[in-house]
Amino acid sequence: MDRIPAHIAIIMDGNGRWAKRRHLPRVAGHKQGMQTVKKVAIAASDLGVKVLSLYAFSTENWKRPAAEVNYLMQLPIRFFSTFVPDLVKHNVRVMVMGDTSRLPKATQKAVNDAIKDTANCDGMVLNFALNYGGRDEITRAVKQIATKVAAGQLKPDEITEQTISDHLMSAPLGKLADPDLLIRTSGEERISNFMLWQIGYSELVFVNEHWPDFNGDSLKRAIREFQGRHRRFGGLVNQ
Ligand code: IPE
Ligand code: IPE
Ligand code: MG
Repeated sequence: MDRIPAHIAIIMDGNGRWAKRRHLPRVAGHKQGMQTVKKVAIAASDLGVKVLSLYAFSTENWKRPAAEVNYLMQLPIRFFSTFVPDLVKHNVRVMVMGDTSRLPKATQKAVNDAIKDTANCDGMVLNFALNYGGRDEITRAVKQIATKVAAGQLKPDEITEQTISDHLMSAPLGKLADPDLLIRTSGEERISNFMLWQIGYSELVFVNEHWPDFNGDSLKRAIREFQGRHRRFGGLVNQ
């Protein structure tokens, strides 16, 4: 378990199918999935992962029935109210990407309190994508850059790839903003609008387990698969 990917991103999928299989309502899958988040966050921190980005709610997930959306909006409140002490114990800092201003006030408070309560932790960053969409993120970045150009603070010629990275919601992660490994659970093999810019050279690992069944061992298996890959970044392996 050396060569641990510094930044792992996970598309946590399959909660609903996990529940349906057990003849439970979909939200039972989300509830169980929250337990998986706790287990996997600690496992990743113990392995020495530097950033764990978790896709918790997409800009497209508002299309779901209101009852399910409401349940998902309550989850961060439940999650942080029980888990922040553990996070602090493991020196894990909470960060969020996404437009949290659209979340219910109580959810915003839970998220902001968790960020504040873990602000002095300098171990792993647990980065939640909440009301996050990769296209929304890029659109906002373009608007900010265009505003600077219009104000004469920036010349079009000065815009580099770094300029764009610096205006994305992952900018606070600095050099660690791009995931080394992206995992999606539940057997689906698509990106669903997650970190579109940042995953340009990520290794993708798709696993069949539904998110509530995923655990520390599943994470290790995905890391081993990552370690067997040859990342070339457009160059040659033994350059
Ligand atoms: C992932 O599980 C959790 C969220 C998207 C919030 P799903 O709810 O998408 O579960 P499936 O894909 O319907 O099984
Ligand atoms: C992606 O899963 C979003 C999250 C995991 C939060 P979805 O279940 O929403 O994605 P699609 O609809 O299958 O593409
Ligand atoms: Mg899904």
